[in-house]
Amino acid sequence: MPSLNELKEIFKPKLIPISWEEQDNSLVLLDQSALPFETVFVKVRTPEEVAYAIKTMKVRGAPAIGITAAYGMITAILKSSSLEEAMGSLFKAKSVLDSSRPTAVNLSWATSHMLSLSKKLVEEGKVRRVEELLAELKAEARRIFDQELEAELQMGIYGLEKIDEGDTVLTQCNAGGLATGTGVGTALAPVKVAHALGIKVSVIAPETRPWLQGSRLTVYELMKEGIPVKLITDTAVGLVMFKGMVNSVMVGADRILSDGHVYNKIGTFKEAVIAKELGIPFYVLAPVTTFDLKNKVEDIRIEERDPNEVRTVRGVPIAPEGVEVYNPVFDVTPPKYVTAIITERGVIYPPFERNVRKTVGR
Ligand code: MRU
Repeated sequence: MPSLNELKEIFKPKLIPISWEEQDNSLVLLDQSALPFETVFVKVRTPEEVAYAIKTMKVRGAPAIGITAAYGMITAILKSSSLEEAMGSLFKAKSVLDSSRPTAVNLSWATSHMLSLSKKLVEEGKVRRVEELLAELKAEARRIFDQELEAELQMGIYGLEKIDEGDTVLTQCNAGGLATGTGVGTALAPVKVAHALGIKVSVIAPETRPWLQGSRLTVYELMKEGIPVKLITDTAVGLVMFKGMVNSVMVGADRILSDGHVYNKIGTFKEAVIAKELGIPFYVLAPVTTFDLKNKVEDIRIEERDPNEVRTVRGVPIAPEGVEVYNPVFDVTPPKYVTAIITERGVIYPPFERNVRKTVGR
């Protein structure tokens, strides 16, 4: 097993979808709605522009949304002329950003963190001018990015214990480096680490209707890394598991509750149930920032998106015009289907009501 430092030397991510441009104080995002057909970067400079990029999924994936929101808070104070004005702008920016997408907890975690840090710095007199606050927040956003990267590499190391030479991993959606902003990923971290160490491993990626994160993003990302990947329709998931083509399931998460309920891309629950039925291990990989120890299932809103995402495929109609549609884009997997949750602090096994707090309790 490599150490974290050894791994940093061996594994260099090939895609960095989020970066801060210091010359013109802008956030540069690789537009994931255009991939893999076009490689387009968008620049955002205000909380409203950042929120719009999150809402329209130019940037998506729970940890990537969190990092983007942290930078979004910075854009709120670029034009502030006093600390008082800056604090007002930060409060406003938090509500603008938090309302962009509801399900991933990393978003409100990042905005709350940036806001409470700013309050503390101002109240304790650690910053006296807006420029000083700006410098502190930029350093903090960079720290969040760096900590996310380290967490993913560490999850990759823990997850490696669950991968044997020649294994095939079934995933869902894109929980790779595009979804986290770092180029590594959560669910895909063990696969990438295994590949970097010369262990033979391959992935089966369901297309993930309606937004096609599997076919457009996971396949693109893995092919770029040279990792073998097979694309399937969402409806083939049961058969590939039944045929013995899958050694384990590895998925990311948008929110994990203290009792082990896992919110992730629609289709995850189905994979978990089939895996349990067939005796295939089902692993969830997520950094501790994805845990929500306060809320319960009844408190969580599952995002529903535009019905046209279902009536069409990338603009081409596939159903009678005006058909009624239900388009929830996440589901919730009850803890009894989860074999283990892999975090940067270690692997959490059932019973989750007890063990999640032990590992993640902040
Ligand atoms: O709607 P998306 O594309 O933002 O959903 C992303 C997912 O569901 C991912 O699996 C999850 O955010 C984990 S990402 C490392």
